[in-house]
Amino acid sequence: MKVKVDGEERDVLAVWRERGVVKMVDQRKLPHSFEIIDLNDHKETAWAIKVMVTRGAGSIGCAAGFGMAQAALEAADLPDEEFMAYLNEAADTLRDTRPTAANLFKAVDKCLKASEWGKVSVKVEGILREAEYILKDDIKATEAIAKAGAKLIKDGFKILTHCNAGALAYIGMGTALAPIRQAHREGMDVFVWVNETRPRGQGARITAWELEQEGIPYALIADNAAGYFMQRGEVDMVIVGADRIAANGDTANKIGTYEKAVGAFENKIPFWVAAPGMTIDLQTKTGGDIEIEERDPREVTEMWGLNEEGEPTTIRVAAEGTNARNPAFDVTPAKFINGFITEHGLVERPFIEAFYWLFGQPGLPPSFKYAGT
Ligand code: MRU
Repeated sequence: MKVKVDGEERDVLAVWRERGVVKMVDQRKLPHSFEIIDLNDHKETAWAIKVMVTRGAGSIGCAAGFGMAQAALEAADLPDEEFMAYLNEAADTLRDTRPTAANLFKAVDKCLKASEWGKVSVKVEGILREAEYILKDDIKATEAIAKAGAKLIKDGFKILTHCNAGALAYIGMGTALAPIRQAHREGMDVFVWVNETRPRGQGARITAWELEQEGIPYALIADNAAGYFMQRGEVDMVIVGADRIAANGDTANKIGTYEKAVGAFENKIPFWVAAPGMTIDLQTKTGGDIEIEERDPREVTEMWGLNEEGEPTTIRVAAEGTNARNPAFDVTPAKFINGFITEHGLVERPFIEAFYWLFGQPGLPPSFKYAGT
């Protein structure tokens, strides 16, 4: 993505690799400062995923792939058996960071698959190549999502989005923001309602910043204001991203997505999910099988931003000792979703058949009977 930093235009990715070093835009500091952080080994990369230096399903998938590449380089001089043991341990370390986004697990598995053949040096090459493919495929997928999704948008549309599913969350054009970017580039008049997305404020801090960078008109709203604008007829459609989509179309996305979907349903507003095959998990039958990350309750009892030195800091909002819960995602049942915007175009009902047709591997039939969504 192109960003303006101190008046200078730069072309950056949310995550990339330069030899043994993984580089990330430090999303904890946006929008107040734009900094790139270096992660020198796979353990540092795993840490960066866990504490959300980088975030968003696609970006953490790429980061996990690059973490595997780092592990392969770290163990490149070991004999085969020890190399594989090191790699499997690194895979577990990376998988243990965040449980919900499908991309992270798929990226680790793809890299492990690339290590199945040849001597160690061949395996290392295979893993490095695979990690780069994941990034390149993601970029291509977001471009296809942009084109497919823009067809749903009409001139003058006001679109509501939740959290950040832009280029920082999914490298390339993003997922939910990709069709909006495309429509804007095609000259359409589009406007975006940006939910702030408590507790970590990805909407306020990152989506608003991305839209500002690209000159796309938007307004930031409190999370609980979305229903108000829907009821008043000021939302023409909702587009959100996804962290994991079950085979039946139930979709895990940032906490608060479910209630936006219910509000859209009640107000007869089309609700679309933009996500590529990497986020669709055919092994997970329904939303009930998706593991939902529960994060530190202090993210709820506190607010955070930057202190005067420009370092991330928090202030306590609730009384000390307040009991709180902090699920990071929720599941929107497929019945509230009009369709999916994927790299293969728009997917409408019945979702399960379409998903197997477009994303299923040969020889992997549905292991359960389709009961409708
Ligand atoms: O907790 P995060 O910030 O990693 O959550 C990811 C998200 O931003 C979203 O839920 C998003 O819509 C999907 S990521 C393309």
